[in-house]
Amino acid sequence: MILIIDFGSQYNQLIARRVREHQVYCQIEPPDIGVDKIRELRPEGIILSGGPASIYEKRSPRVDRGILELGIPILGICYGLQFMVDALGGKVAQSEKREYGFAELIIRERGKMLADVENKTRCWMSHGDQIGRLPAGFRVTASTENTEVAAAENAKRRLYGLQFHPEVVHTVEGKKMLENFLFGVCRCQKSWTMKSFIREAVEEVKETVGDKRVVLGLSGGVDSSVAAVLIHRAIGRQLTCVFVDNGLLRLNEGDKVRTLFAKNFQMDVRFARAGRDFLSGLKGVTDPERKRKIIGRTFIQVFDREAKKIKGAEFLAQGTLYPDLIESRSAFGGPSAVIKSHHNVGGLPKKMKLKLIEPLKHLFKDEVRLLGKELGLSDEVVWRQPFPGPGLAVRIIGEVTEKRLAILRNADAVLMEEIRTGNYYRKVWQSFAVLLPLKSVGIMGDQRTYEHIIAIRAVTSEDAMTADWARLPHDLLSRVSSRIINEVRGVNRVVYDISSKPPSTIEWE
Ligand code: XMP
Repeated sequence: MILIIDFGSQYNQLIARRVREHQVYCQIEPPDIGVDKIRELRPEGIILSGGPASIYEKRSPRVDRGILELGIPILGICYGLQFMVDALGGKVAQSEKREYGFAELIIRERGKMLADVENKTRCWMSHGDQIGRLPAGFRVTASTENTEVAAAENAKRRLYGLQFHPEVVHTVEGKKMLENFLFGVCRCQKSWTMKSFIREAVEEVKETVGDKRVVLGLSGGVDSSVAAVLIHRAIGRQLTCVFVDNGLLRLNEGDKVRTLFAKNFQMDVRFARAGRDFLSGLKGVTDPERKRKIIGRTFIQVFDREAKKIKGAEFLAQGTLYPDLIESRSAFGGPSAVIKSHHNVGGLPKKMKLKLIEPLKHLFKDEVRLLGKELGLSDEVVWRQPFPGPGLAVRIIGEVTEKRLAILRNADAVLMEEIRTGNYYRKVWQSFAVLLPLKSVGIMGDQRTYEHIIAIRAVTSEDAMTADWARLPHDLLSRVSSRIINEVRGVNRVVYDISSKPPSTIEWE
């Protein structure tokens, strides 16, 4: 395994994913990890990440310098290199201007780190400070026009540094360099596969749970579905899943979950039909934030009620992923962590006095999908688009009623059918219909109509933090529109949402 020390770079998760793409397991830890803990983890190599700080600032993040004496190979990237240089008695110089963007890297000495890299190759720079003087025993191995020390090493002590970012795609041979570090320098084995993960995770769940019972809130989304199947493989019917049907789901959603998990996987799934609790709470409510609060509160009540019926439950399982874990404990989490927090169902564990198990907490989303496939879940489940916890309620602008839910559900079903047939389901991040609190005039046959308006929203995105409206083909939109107006009673107009995020959000509420 490779240990990555998190100095706060925006690229840290990318470093981790690149390492894992080479089938080497890695873990990201904060700089205050002690040398003893590192020894315990027994990494084959350590990567010191980049970060926004300057090394001579008083409060800049540092890791115990004993890390340099462990005899474990180390690769310092950007700030990581500067930390290493500073700790070993070299000099980091403040430079007048930031260097940001492409630069041509000229190799001066290859060594193991730069083996098989072209003599001249493009790299991606993003730094303010520079290396002024290298510590004793270090040599410059590559330079750019503006940066004399673009790469350096002390091969004897197996300490390496890159001033640029090998983890971003703009560094053309970055992949090669990481490969050189992992296999040439650290001699890692390619042992990180989802098969090996399943083996170990199953053992761990068995050992943790013993003969106790586990409760899991199943939503039908990718993360909770994969977590459920994995835990089920470990402990079978000691796992009970609770599926809360809040009455705000898409068409046939509950039935699909029942068929898949209860029937095909033979899992113990309790269906809490609670549509009435949710709808009565939402009666007369139009304010988006109030809607969300009511739904969140009701969810906890219903889940709690169901979980109490499961005698001897001691554990609560959740499909928490690695980015949540890293962001929640990172001192550099920044605003992204805060924006997302309202999306998570907080409060459950504390209130219920259950111990948490989170078997996916070291996985990235793409790994969870691979894992799901390996565990026998279909593409339909592992590639499911995200769906918000408050469900269709945040897609009905104004009051949520049975009648309005039925209109939206039917319109949404038509849209999704066309999106799937047109092969756009995986090309877009999300696609859905929204019911507006407006009516407009239309004409059907010889009759004047006065009916509802449906808005269609489809976006492309990498991570939901930013998004762009999807350029769906006009003929697809045209089919969606005419089918909705013809097939869904009560709708006579369809519009397409062409706003991006920011300044809009993906959901309308
Ligand atoms: P916004 O609308 O903030 O949405 O641009 C960003 C992403 O988050 C999803 N979303 C939610 N997911 N519970 C969830 O589990 C929620 O309350 C919630 N609200 C929004 C949204 O669908 C999009 O993918």
